[in-house]
Amino acid sequence: MKVFVTRKIPEPGLELLRKKHEIEVFPYDRIPRKEEIIKGLKGKEGLLCLLTDPIDREIINSEPKLKMIANYAVGFDNIDIKAANKKKIPVSNTPGVLTDATAEMAWALLFSCARRIVEADKFTRKGNFNGWGPMLMIGQDLENKTLGIIGAGRIGTAMALKSQGFNMKVLYYSRNKNQELENKLNAEKVNLEKLLEKSDFISIHVPLTDKTKHMIGKRELKKMKKTAVLVNTARGPVFDEEALVKALKEKWIFAAGLDVYENEPNINKGLFELDNVILQPHSASATVASRTKMAVIAAENMIAGLAGEIPLNCVNKEIFKEN
Ligand code: DGY
Repeated sequence: MKVFVTRKIPEPGLELLRKKHEIEVFPYDRIPRKEEIIKGLKGKEGLLCLLTDPIDREIINSEPKLKMIANYAVGFDNIDIKAANKKKIPVSNTPGVLTDATAEMAWALLFSCARRIVEADKFTRKGNFNGWGPMLMIGQDLENKTLGIIGAGRIGTAMALKSQGFNMKVLYYSRNKNQELENKLNAEKVNLEKLLEKSDFISIHVPLTDKTKHMIGKRELKKMKKTAVLVNTARGPVFDEEALVKALKEKWIFAAGLDVYENEPNINKGLFELDNVILQPHSASATVASRTKMAVIAAENMIAGLAGEIPLNCVNKEIFKEN
């Protein structure tokens, strides 16, 4: 069968796919436009796409042969699942293999914000360091502080577990009780209000859904401590970015570390002007091991889907149920 891959991904995944199917990879190192995806998909049974490709109803309906969509990401908010369901097309994601890489990036942002690493580096390079100063680059301690996890799934859990070296109290806000966090860390499941008010560090790990869009806006930012550090490695639209700019500018909170943005790849220009925010280019899973495993898993899912099997990481299993 034939598979269209919307961008070059690590070779082990492509190699695996090539053994079973004929593949065409979008030839440029940029995000393909919608019409380019439709063109590439023509006559193909498989679509291996990225989180940067909005796979909407029009794309899904454009190719009658389409049998399987494998997303190269754990998040799959870029795909119109209802449209895929209507055509009984399985959709898969790549969970598990990027959990630690993403949690590590969340920690890197948390540390860097707390200790003003990026700001201090810029300051030093500019030649502004004239000797040790009692008030120079004062930040926040981590030891014995409270970490608030919003969304205690795989990545949120990994983030929380890594707090053990700092004797932190862990609060979490999640749909379900997280027994592992409660057993290992004595973590407390709380409502959002309490988490926002009590946490010194807040890390976001919810998927983007209608319910989580703009979950953190003016009202929530106002509830946080003035010393709070906020980290987002999940999805940008979970924040009201305009409200976040205001909160950082007016120092309602201490700092924010962002890997994702409300209108990616566009970033609210207000953020560029601030020293108390660290900006990453959506690179939390960007480690050799994670990206390679993501490619292999996406390929395995594609191969299973095209063989008529339920892919291991199918996100719309309901299509396989008899009605
Ligand atoms: C994902 O997989 O959803 C991350 O945002 C990027 O790896």
